[in-house]
Amino acid sequence: MKKIFIRTLGCQMNIRDSEVICGLLKKAGYQICSSDGEADIVIFNTCSVRQHAEDRVWSLIGSYKGSKIIGLVGCMAQNYKERAFQREANISFVAGPQDIYKIPEILDKLAGGEFFERKIWEVDSSQRPEEIYHTGFFQDKSHAYVVISEGCSNFCSYCVVPYVRGSLRHRKSKNILMEIQGAISNGAARITLLGQNVNAYQDNHINFTKLLEQANALEGLAELNFFTSHPKDANAGFFQAIRDLDKLNKSLHLPLQSGSDRILKLMNRGYSVKEYLDLIDSYRRIVKGGLLTTDIIVGFPTETDEEFEETYDLVKKTRFNAAYIFKYSPRPNTKAAKIADLLSKEGKEKRHKKLLDLQRRISNSLRAGNKHAKV
Ligand code: SAH
Ligand code: SF4
Ligand code: F3S
Repeated sequence: MKKIFIRTLGCQMNIRDSEVICGLLKKAGYQICSSDGEADIVIFNTCSVRQHAEDRVWSLIGSYKGSKIIGLVGCMAQNYKERAFQREANISFVAGPQDIYKIPEILDKLAGGEFFERKIWEVDSSQRPEEIYHTGFFQDKSHAYVVISEGCSNFCSYCVVPYVRGSLRHRKSKNILMEIQGAISNGAARITLLGQNVNAYQDNHINFTKLLEQANALEGLAELNFFTSHPKDANAGFFQAIRDLDKLNKSLHLPLQSGSDRILKLMNRGYSVKEYLDLIDSYRRIVKGGLLTTDIIVGFPTETDEEFEETYDLVKKTRFNAAYIFKYSPRPNTKAAKIADLLSKEGKEKRHKKLLDLQRRISNSLRAGNKHAKV
């Protein structure tokens, strides 16, 4: 029996995709290993969101010498397509996020027989078959990730996701609920719903709030989470659902990205600073004591010191429970990559460190229960 190890990088979506791949490969008779040493085949499920994420994978793959079959799958596979083979000769196959369902067939071909081929790449699908979500394989016994929508059509100007994951597609709510039910009967009482923009969910008359209500009503479910929401699709009705549904975690991850209106516009985020602040006011009024976390990018092309300070002041005022703060990284195909990025590496690092330090102090003081301490 051939042994496979999957190394997963990137977001929760990739964690779930790796489970999907494991489920398919187990059905096809492969054994899944917990380390690469014992494996004949090593699959890298990868992320392209920042350059740093890609560099790490290239160096990991570069360190493999010898006879293992190496597969590059996920977002980097879609980003590089067959160019990946020029970059790293020891890669045998490439499969994009929409093509992961073909991996058992690719491995069959690589194993020889009538279809003997040395290099295979599959990056042309635009849709995954629904069945791949129903192999019943979940890594964690008590918690399950469930994808509700794939891809993204928001085209934030810095972001590679729409290019590598394709346009936004919603799974049918009956299939999502069936998958959740399956995970619950497997023992997973905690569920996290996944999508790049979950609150844009729509399946006929079922929007995200309705889907949350239906999931919340499932017997055996103890805790429900979701990830990630977009401010432009958030409203009071959504916050009321967070308040009222008993199994929903009282927390919200609402990426801000920047505290400057000019930068938000350049980012194509679809909201102003005032609209964002009004939203979180409404969230905090409705979901009393609810946690609030965010994502921020510093050093977007043309961001001035003053515009960075606007972000800094907003973070100081808002007091997020946690913020994931990233240095801008130019990505292929994106609009922002065409804007001259004149800020030095040191300049970006300085802004990054300053904001991280502020947020660390805020998070610590909130954790200590001191809501209004000066930072
Ligand atoms: N769909 C989600 C998150 C996608 S990626 C959302 O819109 O919130 C997660 C985070 O990575 C983003 O929120 C953003 O802050 C960051 N990010 C995306 N592209 C980036 C880039 N080119 N450089 C730096 N950070 C980036
Ligand atoms: Fe990227 Fe924007 Fe889509 Fe998030 S909403 S995945 S940042 S394009
Ligand atoms: Fe996720 Fe990275 Fe792809 S954040 S969607 S694995 S580019």
